[in-house]
Amino acid sequence: MSAADTIRPVPFHCARSDALAVLAERVPAVKAAGARALYARALEGAAVVSPQRVLDEPSGLPGRPELPELVEPRKLGRRGMQSPQGRAVLLHALAHIEFNAINLALDAAWRFSGMPEAFYIDWLKVASEEAHHFLLLSARLAEFGHAYGDFPAHDGLWDMCERTRGDVLARMALVPRTLEARGLDASPPIRARLQQAGDDASAAILDVILRDEIGHVLIGNRWFRYLCDLRGADAHQTYLRLSDEYRAPKLRGPFNFEARRDAGFEEEELAALAGLETQQRADG
Ligand SMILES: [Fe+2]
Ligand SMILES: [Fe+2]
Repeated sequence: MSAADTIRPVPFHCARSDALAVLAERVPAVKAAGARALYARALEGAAVVSPQRVLDEPSGLPGRPELPELVEPRKLGRRGMQSPQGRAVLLHALAHIEFNAINLALDAAWRFSGMPEAFYIDWLKVASEEAHHFLLLSARLAEFGHAYGDFPAHDGLWDMCERTRGDVLARMALVPRTLEARGLDASPPIRARLQQAGDDASAAILDVILRDEIGHVLIGNRWFRYLCDLRGADAHQTYLRLSDEYRAPKLRGPFNFEARRDAGFEEEELAALAGLETQQRADG
């Protein structure tokens, strides 16, 4: 018997169709575990990226549970952070963002064909880290006697994903470079309020999330610039045009300049944000 008879081919999966399957998964804990496992398989070579494959979109994306109930943002109440109930509401809102973030990253990994292999690996990594954030927040929420789904949540996060489904450049501009970058700005004040309330355990989770989110925005910047270069377009002007065209949410200061610089925004863009922040302060 030769060695060739005993070596069986390692069964491998298409990483992009696996990403689509995890995106369609409805049970949050299963989705999160699936996203973690998929990135590990991609690193081992047990899931292989086929950049040219064009996959058909099934109906019902993204897979999500029946709860939380999705409502308009203005219908969500705000609660103080001094009470455990108020902090549970906050942790739930953050878990909801991370649940959506898993979906956003998986969508980037399966939907857009013809990108370099590193693009798909980057987004599988992001999906895996978003799943980690979701699991950390869910575990913390359980310590407050709650679970994901216990409170209503807002329905706006998947919207930008839908709107930019036809153009990977718009997706990179408006999801990581806009929505995730807003998370960099939002994190320090929330963290400070948690710490003021004496909730060091929740504040520590925010530290992990902020560190990883800088990496996600960096990945968004990397691929945004790659596509701008490929199309011979100026990055800053292209961003302004796309945010207008796709009706991106208006940016509001205060901005986290340090995190944004680490996340790969250029000095020209940071200067434009500094100008915007000064003007918004003056306008009150
Ligand atoms: Fe995250
Ligand atoms: Fe993220």
